[in-house]
Amino acid sequence: MCGIVGYIGKRKAWPILVEGLKRLEYRGYDSAGAALMSDTHQLNVYKSVGKVADLERTAEGQDVSGCVGIAHTRWATHGEPSTVNAHPHCSQNGDLALVHNGIIENYAVLKEKLQAKGCTFKSSTDTEVLVQLIGYIQQQGNLDLLTAVQLALREVIGAYAIAVVDRKHPDEIIAARKSSPLVVGVGEGEFFLASDATPMVTYTNQVVYLSDGEIAVLRADAPLKIVDLNNVECPHEAQTVALNIGQLEKGGFPHFMLKEIFDQPDCISDCMRGRVNTDTCTVTLSAVSNYKEQLLRAGRFIIVACGTSWHAGLIGKQLIESFCRIPVEVEYASEFRYRNPVIHPDDVVIAISQSGETADTLAAIELAKSQGAFIYGICNVIGSSIARATDTGSCIHVGPEIGVASTKAFTGQVTVLTLLALALGREKGTLSEEEYHRIVKELVAVPEKMRTVLKQHLFIADFSKMFTYARNFIYLGRGYAFPIALEGALKLKEISYIHAEGYPAAEMKHGPIALIDAEMPVVIVATQSPLYEKVLSNIQEIKARKGRVVAVVTEGDTVIRNLADYSIELPATLECLNPLVASIPLQLLAYHIAVCRGMDVDQPRNLAKSVTVE
Ligand code: F6R
Repeated sequence: MCGIVGYIGKRKAWPILVEGLKRLEYRGYDSAGAALMSDTHQLNVYKSVGKVADLERTAEGQDVSGCVGIAHTRWATHGEPSTVNAHPHCSQNGDLALVHNGIIENYAVLKEKLQAKGCTFKSSTDTEVLVQLIGYIQQQGNLDLLTAVQLALREVIGAYAIAVVDRKHPDEIIAARKSSPLVVGVGEGEFFLASDATPMVTYTNQVVYLSDGEIAVLRADAPLKIVDLNNVECPHEAQTVALNIGQLEKGGFPHFMLKEIFDQPDCISDCMRGRVNTDTCTVTLSAVSNYKEQLLRAGRFIIVACGTSWHAGLIGKQLIESFCRIPVEVEYASEFRYRNPVIHPDDVVIAISQSGETADTLAAIELAKSQGAFIYGICNVIGSSIARATDTGSCIHVGPEIGVASTKAFTGQVTVLTLLALALGREKGTLSEEEYHRIVKELVAVPEKMRTVLKQHLFIADFSKMFTYARNFIYLGRGYAFPIALEGALKLKEISYIHAEGYPAAEMKHGPIALIDAEMPVVIVATQSPLYEKVLSNIQEIKARKGRVVAVVTEGDTVIRNLADYSIELPATLECLNPLVASIPLQLLAYHIAVCRGMDVDQPRNLAKSVTVE
């Protein structure tokens, strides 16, 4: 939700800010803006509705000089997407400019207080209240910017990552964080600032992740200083980030989403590298080796996550229950955190999050921690808030996911959950040696099977055209294929804006079958499993009502091929590993339907990649 970029040093700030915003556009893209300290000591602010490219057009022919600047790409929370609500926002006297990611919960009270003192507001955002508050405090006490920020933030309730510049002190950026991510990139006589490390990797691989309550003072001529709200210095150490530019570009694909779908075989190999020994067919997860005692004594696992990560959790439940014979509950983090749930000290909470910044998941972790549970994180972004809030965990190592609709992170999460279930099942002795080795051996073969599925890309593209004007879709699956149906439906609705529902196939006759007619496409995962015959009956029931069936089947299944309107064949694998292979055709189907409908696949409307607000 919203992306922040900042630069201070000897280079021209504008191109760095624009390039950085483009990297962060996945976090929100309804408006963008920047504030620059110009060469003539002016504070120039440019804003525009729409994407970063619109901001570039707005600033064409304007003064974009200067080596200090802050910028923002917005996902609206308070106030509609408009130029006036776009960031940066300025103080009453126009000396301060501020960009913000998060929500100031008590902004209404603060606004009233400031209005009573004569402040007037241009926008309807909570952010303008914050910059006006800092400006007011600064003017009243004739204070430096850092002190004014510290005093203002003490009055604030809510979440923020902010960057502020002051026209009177053009050689400084003040940045602060509470519950919203902020990273400082450290160069030679220059600093970068951003919501994640991607905008700065062109320039430096040394980064400092700010912690909650920390304020960074960035000056080109001084080392990085980090203090808290009481001005006590906070020790910090730069870390090396292992990102490369290639991972942040489309590599010849028309969209990041398609690139990321095609990346999956390599991503799954990367995720297994160093963890799976292909000679002995064994799994070693360092988190399991290091925290064996806490994990093995677990009476129950509780998985907390949102969206696609929650779907991965549903697969994790089946894997862990089946391999380890431990009960697993899968909770929407947003419900769990407010539900007064029963949490025992011997519960292990598994938090799954691609971004590692999802506010609800983070809050669920804090709740579980406060009641003594042990927390295991499964994240993609190293150094993210969730990765740091957990007791231990495993990174999915699939590289940055830029397309807003999650693809490779999902299969990465399912891979880590499979490894976790295998490692624990073996430790507990609930999985026989034979079964364990058989599953690991099959897992190693998954990337190649994914490649085989990807070869059907053009076939899927071709028949997707038939669904360009569909208004509804039903997705069905049973067992391990049910979460795949849910995930397939989510992919379709978020990028094509077609209404889609996922159901366990057997639930059809309890209601949804009433929807079936010649207008209703049904996507059904009908690969070989002990329930194959029952799923086959479901297909017959749909065909009897003239529904159009897209079936995902196991290679060589002529029975369903003859029944379905379109069938996509997958190489055979174990049922428990099928989600890894079967999710790919559903991702491709959603992608191609969205492309046929002319949608903005990588940046669908109203969405953002990193949901740092409730
Ligand atoms: C859907 C999607 C979202 C995320 C959800 C959780 O394609 O990407 O549903 O899965 O917002 O995000 P993370 O995994 O970052 O916590």
